[in-house]
Amino acid sequence: MVARPTRLTPPLECVRLHDAESGLDGVIAIHSTTLGPGAGGCRFWSYPSMDQALADAIRLAEGMSYKNALAGLPFGGAKAVLRRPAGDFDRGALFRAFGRAVEDLGGVYVTAEDVGTSVADMQEVASVSRHVAGLPGAEGRAGGDPSPWTARGVFDAMRVAAEFALGRDLAGLTVAVQGTGNVGADLCRRLADAGAHLVIADPDPARRDRLRAILDADVVDVDAIAGVEADIFAPCALGGALDRESVGQLKARLVCGAANNQLASPDIAALLQGRGITYAPDYVVNAGGIISVSAEYLGEDESDVASRVAAIAPRTLALLERAAREGRSPAVVADEMAEEVIAGAERIAA
Ligand code: NAI
Repeated sequence: MVARPTRLTPPLECVRLHDAESGLDGVIAIHSTTLGPGAGGCRFWSYPSMDQALADAIRLAEGMSYKNALAGLPFGGAKAVLRRPAGDFDRGALFRAFGRAVEDLGGVYVTAEDVGTSVADMQEVASVSRHVAGLPGAEGRAGGDPSPWTARGVFDAMRVAAEFALGRDLAGLTVAVQGTGNVGADLCRRLADAGAHLVIADPDPARRDRLRAILDADVVDVDAIAGVEADIFAPCALGGALDRESVGQLKARLVCGAANNQLASPDIAALLQGRGITYAPDYVVNAGGIISVSAEYLGEDESDVASRVAAIAPRTLALLERAAREGRSPAVVADEMAEEVIAGAERIAA
């Protein structure tokens, strides 16, 4: 097991993970620890190169700093990104090797599930490290898969954002959902219950067809989802869903979804604003998962999670209202607010 800390641009620290025996290959990026230990999930994905994995880890870790700050959590931002081995591998051994690297950091980084990882993977991590959440919790205690909390926060935020931007309840609206994984599928069920019509896309036929059958959703190609006739576009797959091309195609007037890092680059925020499309910032609306994870790590109750997740919708609405008042993009206003929280904590610590 090799875990070599390498300090990059301060305050970011990246820990390279490599263990030939188990196939572990990746990085833990710690973006900030001003508010507390860096907390953020572990992504397990087929990255063609380590450079791409590293770039993703850094962007995602930064996003976690902003998300945790704005959600009022006592955590900084970090993320682990692991490259999925090409051939056969022992999944348990790989996640135990990852867990040993997490443990070596002594609590500076707290991990949990993200794209491509499961509760079972986190249980492997927990067999060798204390610094992990997203594990099955006792009755009434915070814990378990964070995805339902993420979906609940996104759904609540979408409801108030739809009232704000479209002047409508969700009933009768069409929502285009990109990605029907853990969060996307849960969100789709909530939307169907609220009377919304669904258009969905996912490259995994099992995931998308299951929903088509249950929820009477229309299925389109992954390349077509951004441009379908819809009122709301909900990115719930990987990052970068909003780029020049997809924003140019959007018919939806509101974007609100679970995916992290939806803006392919910061200038996309202005592009959305210019087209009159309301953007509910990703890390504001998708904080439910980390709220659950952090409560579990701190030994809190499910009721603590519920009350913090319930605060996501009013926070989103206040942000959209402020952005509209000031004629600025909600993404820019959210960043500014998160930076103020972190700077305030830095001043107190100094
Ligand atoms: P997941 O891995 O369960 O689902 C992702 C889904 O997206 C998969 O079904 C995959 O096949 C699909 N997908 C991949 N590329 C696609 C494309 N081009 N078009 C359409 N679908 C595509 O992941 P999960 O947990 O549902 O997370 C979804 C997003 O939400 C990720 O960006 C994640 O970082 C973010 N998120 C998740 C949280 C959680 O609690 N799980 C918390 C906060 C953010």
